[in-house]
Amino acid sequence: MLLLLVFLMVLPLFLLWKHRVNGGKLLPPGPPGLPLIGNLHQLERSATHRYLWHLSKQYGPLMFLRLGFEPILVVSSPRTAEVMKTHDPEFSSRPSLLALQKLSYNGLDLAFASYGTDTVTATMVWTMTALMKNPRVMKKAQKEVRTLVGEKCFVDEDDIQKLTYMKALVKEIMRLYPAAPLLIPRETLQKCNIDGYEIPSKTLVFVNAWAIGRDPESWENPEEFMPERFLGTCIDFKGQDYKLIPFGAGRRIWPGMNLGAVTVELALANLLYSFDWEMPAGMKMEDIDTDAKPGLTMTKKNDLYLVARNYI
Ligand code: HEM
Repeated sequence: MLLLLVFLMVLPLFLLWKHRVNGGKLLPPGPPGLPLIGNLHQLERSATHRYLWHLSKQYGPLMFLRLGFEPILVVSSPRTAEVMKTHDPEFSSRPSLLALQKLSYNGLDLAFASYGTDTVTATMVWTMTALMKNPRVMKKAQKEVRTLVGEKCFVDEDDIQKLTYMKALVKEIMRLYPAAPLLIPRETLQKCNIDGYEIPSKTLVFVNAWAIGRDPESWENPEEFMPERFLGTCIDFKGQDYKLIPFGAGRRIWPGMNLGAVTVELALANLLYSFDWEMPAGMKMEDIDTDAKPGLTMTKKNDLYLVARNYI
């Protein structure tokens, strides 16, 4: 009986110790978890990317957690996101559906739902949300597209290439509202060493693209919606600039990203060209919220209602 009592007292301490130390090797810092469940109880499911961002401010851009016995690495800065290049082979695997399911809000996320259309639709909705809250940007983008297209009645793919401001606007949307804020989780294929820490094999890796887009060391006034920040720069989302990675990076970057970007640009250009947009009667732009639904695809929680008036 006494032995059992001692065992029960020592077990939690042992599990806590194991949490931080991996066979004598140092793990990245992270919030202390409870025995058996690890950090499971701490994950706020409504906006995981936002919660992990807050945690990373305390524990750093390379953060280690456990969900039960599942090891998790959270990467939250452009510099640490370069592991997708420097450790490309080790970080290029995807976890099994079972592991994902534990984090995927019972199947509401992209691994199980209609991800193919959700990401583009989500990006369009965030774009219109941001534009309604920033009428200056809306006017400037509409002026650009209407001046270029004139009386033609529609915008085509050739026109898109000349819409410099609108392209900057889409980059700004993907910086602040990446459709996959934690990308699609990766899993380490084998153990590897980063910044002096040893990351175990089969660790689930979340790259917080949402946090990276708001990194104050990479972006001036990161919370401000300002497409102009991209004008005259060659910063792009093609996986070379680690401060803007809405489509990921490294060998698992989404290969169809050009298609994704053009689809958004073309739809947006036509919406801006063809209609003037107004708030429904009785609503002000301050009434539009930016709350997101739970899930690995970031979609707007509350529907966006707007009045479209024909321009042409
Ligand atoms: C604006 C739209 C979209 C965004 C922001 C987006 C974003 C992403 C991201 C971040 C990844 C993970 C990359 C990584 O791990 O480094 C990904 C992977 C993927 N995306 Fe998308 N995506 C979009 C649209 C689409 C669409 C429309 C489709 C399908 C028709 C699609 C199909 C895929 C597939 C199949 C993968 C997995 C690739 C792999 O595992 O190697 N995506 N996407």
